[in-house]
Amino acid sequence: MTLTTAAHVAATPPAQGTRPPEAGSAVGTLDAARARSLEVEARIAANPADFRVLTGERPTGALHIGHYFGTIANRVRLQQAGVEVFLILADYQVITDRDEAGDLRGTVREILLDYLAAGIDPDRTTVFAHSAVPALNQLLLPFLSLVSVAELDRNPTVKAETAATGGRAMSGLMLTYPVHQAADILFCHGNLVPVGQDQLPHLEMTRTVARRFNQRYAAANPYFPEPDALLAPSPTILGTDGTKMSKSRGNTLPLGASEDETARWVKRAKTDAERVITYEPDARPEVANLLTIASLCTGRTPEQIADEIGSAGAGRLKALVTEALVEHLRPIRARRAALAAGDGPDVLDILARGNARANEIADRTLEDVRGLMGMVYR
Ligand code: TRP
Repeated sequence: MTLTTAAHVAATPPAQGTRPPEAGSAVGTLDAARARSLEVEARIAANPADFRVLTGERPTGALHIGHYFGTIANRVRLQQAGVEVFLILADYQVITDRDEAGDLRGTVREILLDYLAAGIDPDRTTVFAHSAVPALNQLLLPFLSLVSVAELDRNPTVKAETAATGGRAMSGLMLTYPVHQAADILFCHGNLVPVGQDQLPHLEMTRTVARRFNQRYAAANPYFPEPDALLAPSPTILGTDGTKMSKSRGNTLPLGASEDETARWVKRAKTDAERVITYEPDARPEVANLLTIASLCTGRTPEQIADEIGSAGAGRLKALVTEALVEHLRPIRARRAALAAGDGPDVLDILARGNARANEIADRTLEDVRGLMGMVYR
């Protein structure tokens, strides 16, 4: 076996984080995942260096404030806390539910601008693209051997995403992308994955793949960590129509939008017929959404803001939300505009650096994996 200790250590974060004592416990239910996220937060605060975060997105469009408040701000927080962060732009995953990936290079540029403007620091965080890291993709082959078609068929998120394509036949890539995602996470021995609820089945798949790989090929000295999900601490931000923010619904506010566009977006946002503003997320989701946005921007609670507005109504609420958003996003938007105008490093150069680092790690991991599987012909 060619598994060299040096390569193994270099490709792996410290042992304590690789094998948390609770590894293997179920994270299947949402409540369990929430409880687990809280425990993990305490461990991050105590020992940030025990963790390696991997997360990311499909490059299907520039990022919007739903991404920003939901995930990007959280990634910046983890980065500032001293956790090593990897961000994947999953370009191969774009073609799971569509034929046309669009202008990937342009979209990737926009997202890189969003990342940097929001505070992602390329000296501390590795940003890379799926397709630029061949060894990561090759891990998909052994990983696919570890799961059954019945297990792939059961994934509720894959089912929902297929249903949302409106009658499109499910492609092989759609069926198997959760295993591909396991490769995204495990290639760098990521042990912490900040995600939304919809990604929990994929995390479960990743843990299964890691566990089975270890049982089959590395029983004496488990090679892959079983990563934990870290659920976003903030609530989901809704679009103007009161449904989840999504580019395909035309209800988003891009992070890089202008002040006028921000005001127009808030004006379009649905509210309800009740005059007095109250914070009731279940009964009044649209009003609660605006209060949540104002709360995230100002650091005050949604209840406080609702009390202050009271009978002044939705018009007053909207004016407050517009001002809060414009103020909060001003520095981010200024940085974004400066970067887009060519001040500072070229964003694609930053991606090239991240790709090089991801390739180094993926090459080592693939070499280890082939060694563990007995595929050594030297
Ligand atoms: N599936 C994720 C999404 O649609 C994107 C993604 C790809 C991802 N690979 C990942 C997220 C690995 C976390 C970890 O948002």
